[in-house]
Amino acid sequence: MRALVCLTLMAAPAAAADFRLLVGHGGPVMDAAVSHDGRHALTASFDNSVGYWTLGGEEVTWLEGHEAAVKTAIFLPGGRAASGGDDFAIEVWDLQAGQRRERLEGHKGQVASLAVSPDGALLASASWDGSVGLWPLDGQGAPQFMTGHEASVTDVAFSPDGTLVYSTSADGTIRAWDVATASEKRLLLSHGFGVNTILVGDGWFAYGAVDGGTRVIDSTTDTLLADLTLERRPILSMALRPDGGEIAVGDGEGYVMTVSTEDWRINGDFRAAAKGPVWALAYTGDGEGLLGGGIDDTAYVWPAHNTLDAPIMATVERGFLKDPDKMSNGERQFRRKCSICHSLTEDGARRAGPTLAGVFGRKAGTVPGYLYSETLTGLDIEWNDETIDLLFDLGPDHYIPGSKMPMQVIQNPDDRDDLIAYLKNNT
Ligand code: HEC
Repeated sequence: MRALVCLTLMAAPAAAADFRLLVGHGGPVMDAAVSHDGRHALTASFDNSVGYWTLGGEEVTWLEGHEAAVKTAIFLPGGRAASGGDDFAIEVWDLQAGQRRERLEGHKGQVASLAVSPDGALLASASWDGSVGLWPLDGQGAPQFMTGHEASVTDVAFSPDGTLVYSTSADGTIRAWDVATASEKRLLLSHGFGVNTILVGDGWFAYGAVDGGTRVIDSTTDTLLADLTLERRPILSMALRPDGGEIAVGDGEGYVMTVSTEDWRINGDFRAAAKGPVWALAYTGDGEGLLGGGIDDTAYVWPAHNTLDAPIMATVERGFLKDPDKMSNGERQFRRKCSICHSLTEDGARRAGPTLAGVFGRKAGTVPGYLYSETLTGLDIEWNDETIDLLFDLGPDHYIPGSKMPMQVIQNPDDRDDLIAYLKNNT
């Protein structure tokens, strides 16, 4: 009896140390990556930034330069990282300096995923413009765009030898592309439903789809190695443990499942979010932990086989998910159409847009520390009832062409009035 008590007491602090929070983003966390040495992590967020974290100390450097939500971030060799997002651009970052090194442009749709070749010379990108991009790093040549998918490309991965790029698409197919010739090698499979994510291992690939389909295929014989499909959909994220021995699968219902790559048996399964998506998923360097992200502004590190009562994501309702019947029309307009990008307080919560605290009577583009587009800082407008009304009557793209604000009009004048009244009372 006594021995048992001791064991529990000893286990508790170790378990607590396995759980960590990465706090600071001002929007949902869409992707995550851990460096080879396990000491750093990247998080890509809806708040337009990439977080570069020192794990253990949980210090963060914000990589800023994207003009819209960031959907993907990966480490590159040589102290660099790359990220892609809704602004159709890929940023290459110098991590030491915490600054942009290169901006890669050419996609005509959002950049949903990135992968780096095993030799570190090439970047592959998946874009909603339907193409797979191949980018020589360090300015060593022009990018190439490989077409063939009939809808958005959702994920990319290199084969272990670097000769092929695998891609998944909303068109329901997985294709392999020959890197040397930048052309389609073959159609690997048609799943029927959109495929969201792929992992390529040694002799196999695993994929997850919109309908919940989760399968592992032998990449030499094209035969099914394992069908891991459960009653959960969609599958959104997958990660490979650094030693190759396990994969993790995150879904739209808040679960994370871990599966052995030896025999494709399920090792574990835990709830990572009270509800909603697990968009971001990556193993920690020692393979003992899983870094995950979703609708919360905070990213979480859990033990990979989580048996703790550790906190999970999405237990607090986000403002824009609150019951709309309990709000005034003005608040409803704000929650639905603005709150994901703007806070109303000075506390500097990171969001994609500047805080709207004190916006009435303020000159456009003047919140200290916020990285505006040049268009907005160069603008001679003061924000008041009239100018805010015009902004959403005409839409930012017409009222302030070149601004980073998304295209959006609020057609009903009453809705605009209610929104402005709500903003006035709450800023
Ligand atoms: C998807 C993100 C997003 C949404 C949604 C959004 N905004 Fe913005 N907003 C921005 C960004 C980014 C900027 C900065 C634009 C720039 O620098 O060009 C901005 C700028 C502004 C500004 C100018 C602020 C200043 O300091 O000059 C106002 C006013 C504003 N937004 C109001 C709103 C309102 C009201 C809504 C809801 C109806 C809204 N925005 C919805 C991202 C968003």
